[in-house]
Formats: sequence, structure tokens, C-alpha cells
Amino acid sequence: MSKITVLGVLASGRGSNLQSILDAISAGRLNAKVGVVISDNPEANVLKRLAVTDPEIPAICIARRAYESQAAFEADIAAQLKVHHVELVILAGFMRILSPSFVHSLPGRVMNIHPSLLPSFPGKHVHEQALSYGVKVSGCTVHFIDEGTDTGPIILQEAVPVLEGDTPETLAERILHTEHILYPRAIELYCQGRLKIEGRRVIILEKEDDLCED
Ligand code: GRF
Repeated sequence: MSKITVLGVLASGRGSNLQSILDAISAGRLNAKVGVVISDNPEANVLKRLAVTDPEIPAICIARRAYESQAAFEADIAAQLKVHHVELVILAGFMRILSPSFVHSLPGRVMNIHPSLLPSFPGKHVHEQALSYGVKVSGCTVHFIDEGTDTGPIILQEAVPVLEGDTPETLAERILHTEHILYPRAIELYCQGRLKIEGRRVIILEKEDDLCED
């Protein structure tokens, strides 16, 4: 059995992606463990839910308003990640932009999921943007973060059709279902040491046991 990767999950809201990661771990599809969950929102459902379903996982609220500066806020997040021996940071609906210095302190070690096929429709109100543009296909993207908003190197993407009569809510729900499959898969590729960043590209290395032996 290979080494278990310790994840630190940052989330601000509902927490369904965190749940999909925990489910993938329980099902043996993801060789990782959630070492800590950090939310910037004391009211976040993710914290309430975790207290009931997985009370053994440390769940911490680090509210931005409790700090004088972004640097102090991020220093506390970084300290908690360190205390809990986090190797890979997972942004799962974390509604705060992280500063370039935070990003640079964890090179290639912070992932995000975004509910569109980037580079289309970055930022907020993603499904409204997709519907008003009139695209026939949307989807989701897992990427490493860089200094920009939703601009980092792309790891995996999956398309989801836009249907006649879709509202932002129905489209969001269909895409969310795909997110729950894609995010654990991307994290598992990282855990297997199969993601290599080359500039803007993420190369997915073959599985060792898939390699041909002469
Ligand atoms: C997801 O749609 C994700 O793509 C976006 O924020 C949402 C988080 O949902 N970044 P949840 O909190 O994981 O349920």
C-alpha cells in the first residue's frame, strides 16, 4: 500500500465536494486522508455537517474579519495546514482569493474546482454567464491555482450538456454531480505522483503498472 496523502480542505459553504472526497476515501478510490478542514465562514454548512458526520476530523473556522490584514489571515491558515501536516490543499468552494505570496508558498500543491470549462466563464455567477452566452456545453475544471482567478494549469475537465430550459440552478446541479466524480479523480492522480506541471500544461503520467515491460 502506498503512502497516504494528507489533504487540507478549504471551504466556505455547503461542502458537497468535501463530502465526495470523504466518500471516495471510504470507498477506497482515493488514497488520502483529510487532515483538517478550514472555513472562513463560521456559519458554513460544511462545518456543521462535518461535526455530525466526521467529528474526528479537525474543523476550524478562520474568519477574515478577525484579522487586520490578508497576510495575517493567510499566516494562520498556513500555520494550521502545517500543524496538521497537510501535503495538498484542496479548495472546495472557498470564496476568498488567496494572495500571490500564499500561492507561491505552496507551489503545485493547491487545487481548485470550478464549475465551467475554463477559460470560459471564470469568477462568479458562472452558470448565469454560460446560459446568457448561449453555450450548448458547459462542465467543470480541476486546476492548480496560480496568482490569477481560475487561471492556473488545468488537470482534468469534463463536459456537461446545457439543456433547453436549463436555469442556473438546474445546470449547477447537473455540473455538481460531475464535479463529485472529477475532483476525487484529480486528487488521486496527485496522490499517485502522476501530475507533472510543465508551464501551463499538466502532464498526466502513466500508471507505473500500465507501463510495458520488455
Ligand atoms: C462548487 O460548484 C465548486 O465548483 C465551486 O463552488 C461550489 C462549491 O460547492 N468552486 P460545495 O460547497 O462543494 O457543495
